[in-house]
Amino acid sequence: SRVPVPVNEPVRGYAPGTAERASLKRALADLSANRVEMPLVIDGRDVHTGRMGQAVMPHRHAHVLGTFHQGGAAEVDAAIEAALRARRDWAALPWEARAAVFLKAADLLQGPYRDVLNAATMLGQSKTCHQAEIDSACELIDFFRFNVAFYEQLLREQPQSSPGMWNRMEHRPLEGFVFAVSPFNFTSIAGNLPTAPALCGNTVVWKPASTAVYSAHFLMKLFKEAGLPDGVINLVTGSGADVGDPVLAHRQLAGVHFTGSTPVFHRMWRTVGANIDRYAGYPRLVGETGGKDFIVAHASADPVALATAMIRGAFEYQGQKCSAASRAYVPDTLWPQVRDALVAQVDGIAMGDVGEFSNFMGAVIDAASFEKQRSAIEEARSSPDASILVGGACDDSEGWFVRPTVIVTTNPAYRTMCEELFGPVLTVHVYQAPHWVETLDVVDRTSPYALTGAIFAQDRYAIEQGLDRLRNAAGNFYINDKPTGAVVGQQPFGGARASGTNDKAGSLLNLLRWISPRSIKETF
Ligand code: SER
Repeated sequence: SRVPVPVNEPVRGYAPGTAERASLKRALADLSANRVEMPLVIDGRDVHTGRMGQAVMPHRHAHVLGTFHQGGAAEVDAAIEAALRARRDWAALPWEARAAVFLKAADLLQGPYRDVLNAATMLGQSKTCHQAEIDSACELIDFFRFNVAFYEQLLREQPQSSPGMWNRMEHRPLEGFVFAVSPFNFTSIAGNLPTAPALCGNTVVWKPASTAVYSAHFLMKLFKEAGLPDGVINLVTGSGADVGDPVLAHRQLAGVHFTGSTPVFHRMWRTVGANIDRYAGYPRLVGETGGKDFIVAHASADPVALATAMIRGAFEYQGQKCSAASRAYVPDTLWPQVRDALVAQVDGIAMGDVGEFSNFMGAVIDAASFEKQRSAIEEARSSPDASILVGGACDDSEGWFVRPTVIVTTNPAYRTMCEELFGPVLTVHVYQAPHWVETLDVVDRTSPYALTGAIFAQDRYAIEQGLDRLRNAAGNFYINDKPTGAVVGQQPFGGARASGTNDKAGSLLNLLRWISPRSIKETF
């Protein structure tokens, strides 16, 4: 291998009294005290439109972290022009020169940028220190380093030749530009969506979620300091209607790298379909969308490990990971133990300001999410099919706080067993232990999604039945572990069905979508 062999970035602990905690605390204080104005970045230049949005702390929503400029049709045109202009030189670089930018970004993130990006993710997206560290530091560093190694592996893929005939393959970027649309919930995904296509020689227009422009602003500074040439990644904030639609309708659209909701991805496909006669080629549509991720336990499961996985899987980062467990199936034989563990532990979960490092949870991202959780909880309170086992309190007076909530239902088709809420609400169905196989079929049929899922069992036959019957129910399948926390290079991530195109982030399979190879035959 010509590139450094990547090793997953170790997770730092930020224990009390350590220099790393003191340094992160300084970054938090600094960002909290200094409001920033965030421009668009087009062709390496700051662009101010005067159409402002606000970045606030979800756990203290009166605190404005900064204001950001939002783009429209004129900025979209300028960003696409810049991307198309930059493409020629960027694509023509030796690939090692492109790789060097991202390897340097990883090193900067391991060094001086780690605190600022973790602090921005904590404050702007209400992540606890640990949740920020595994996302905006470790996972993002891993994306940068592993993608370089995967790309090198991909380049080695060459056809057979024989005497008198030399066959070869050029791994060229797509023709046109790529549109990256990133979600609020992972800074690492926001970093990966524009950079994975860029590594392969593409140039990009990048629209981050309006609720995560704050960390995107610091990511853009990181890319620049790492040496990313002007125009390779152009940051354009704004709404789907103002930015997304005109970008998608552009003749030179070559691909979409998306993570976000299923309805938004559907809308993108429709827009692309409506414009199909205009494009120079067929745009690659790569998306990771919603989930209704499950934990299903067999009677042979370890109830202590199961309860821990339910709590961590459902409530870490307020249930706002696309991989979060939001429905669970527990056999009646285990339920008394699991129920008692849930009640005892969930009630004690510390929630509040993420700057207070002892808190396990912060707030949900915005008022709309708060309202969605609150109304589902209220509905469960008054439903004859459901009851609230623990949690249920919601308070948006200072921040959008929703207590971790467990709903228990007698109806496996109850609304919150099927629909995604994207918040700290876990719905549990207790089934009769002998109905294991039927329950697996219920898990498979209950939701349209297939992102992540976990089975808990000690019985080997039960594990194999789960693997078999739930073959298509999850792109990331876990046996005796929570369904969250995929690690780059270890569990390539992505789902099928309504959860996306399953082009595994953090793997060679994803990079394949950003190249358009030329196969060359030369005879002598
Ligand atoms: N990769 C994250 C996880 O596995 C979700 O996007 O939790």
